[in-house]
Amino acid sequence: MTSSANKSVDHVRIFDTTLRDGEQAPGFSMDTGAKLVMARALRDLNVDVIEAGFAAASPGDAAAVSAIAREVEGPIICSLARLTEPDIDAALRAIEPARRKRVHVFIGTSPLHREAKLKLTKEEILARVARLVAHARAACEDVEFSPEDAIRTEREFLVEVCAAAIEAGATTLNIPDTVGYTTPEEIYDLFSFLRANTPDADKVVFSAHCHDDLGMAVANSLAAVRAGARQVECAVNGIGERAGNCSLEEVVMALATRRDHFGVTTQIDTTKIYPASQTLARVTHNPIPRNKAIVGKNAFAHEAGIHQHGVLANKRTYEIMDAESVGMPSNSIVLGKHSGKHALAARIRALGFEVGDNRLNEIFVEFKKLADATREVTDADVVRLVAGETRDG
Ligand code: KIV
Ligand code: ZN
Repeated sequence: MTSSANKSVDHVRIFDTTLRDGEQAPGFSMDTGAKLVMARALRDLNVDVIEAGFAAASPGDAAAVSAIAREVEGPIICSLARLTEPDIDAALRAIEPARRKRVHVFIGTSPLHREAKLKLTKEEILARVARLVAHARAACEDVEFSPEDAIRTEREFLVEVCAAAIEAGATTLNIPDTVGYTTPEEIYDLFSFLRANTPDADKVVFSAHCHDDLGMAVANSLAAVRAGARQVECAVNGIGERAGNCSLEEVVMALATRRDHFGVTTQIDTTKIYPASQTLARVTHNPIPRNKAIVGKNAFAHEAGIHQHGVLANKRTYEIMDAESVGMPSNSIVLGKHSGKHALAARIRALGFEVGDNRLNEIFVEFKKLADATREVTDADVVRLVAGETRDG
């Protein structure tokens, strides 16, 4: 076993690809300044690996990877490269200043990719893997290999490709669901199969890289972890090609909240999740949907009276984790037309007023009228209602 494979049986590495796969998505590209800001947020999160870009993609991206490699200490800094010498050399140059560095090489292996895109036979692909993974490994101790579109690759060929990559010196084997096509049962079976059938499988860390085309990227990544994957590739706010990548905040909080089920840990400082999510929204000018799991405005907000009553009595009635644990200031009780008297009374008290039951009943009648006419009743509205100002003046 390599030392990285040995690190800890139950530690799942978080490989963040916000700055590579994430920024490849239309509307999310970032310049060097924006990437640096985001890379610092990823360092604060304590991710294991930052995939900082694709050095061969453009001079600007190579410069961004280099800047991150120079300035951001802690995580391993990685650049993507196609399985070609010029790409690998560009990646090596870009990550050179980093204390801890990784090259991530990939080549398509499914019939569609071999025939329609690469025009390469299986033998030609195997030869390239052997030659170019070795080329990368000669210059860098930490080499990740990805058979692109692994999910739609014939299993026997996939084993041959993985074996060739291990023999040539790959230290992490990433198995991408490039088009978000798989299901939790299928990927569990695939990872179990590869770990059982690839020669020297115990020399490498297996990694999952799931896309969200069918909305299953997080579920599929978690299934891969249950089958022995010890690295998950993910992106803040789930950004990435098309429908995106596995969302970092969702997979990390699933592993943390359901530790009883998964039995593994990550080294993420979960209290930095919300700040990182906000930073990404700011630097890419893409707002976070209200209902986004973990980081959306509604993730810890309650408007319905029955829920508010429960949460005010014991927040575990409707919250499986604390807002503070992901770095949000607190949960919130939103006053609207679905809210009940308990929530209104609590807000009135929180605003420093004392009202008796009869007065509360009167205010509640006016509150409902106002709530019907507006989306959200604000604290200023509540103060006006307590002061006796009705909607009609
Ligand atoms: O989705 C994918 O296959 C990729 C590879 C480059 C790892 O992003
Ligand atoms: Zn991808």
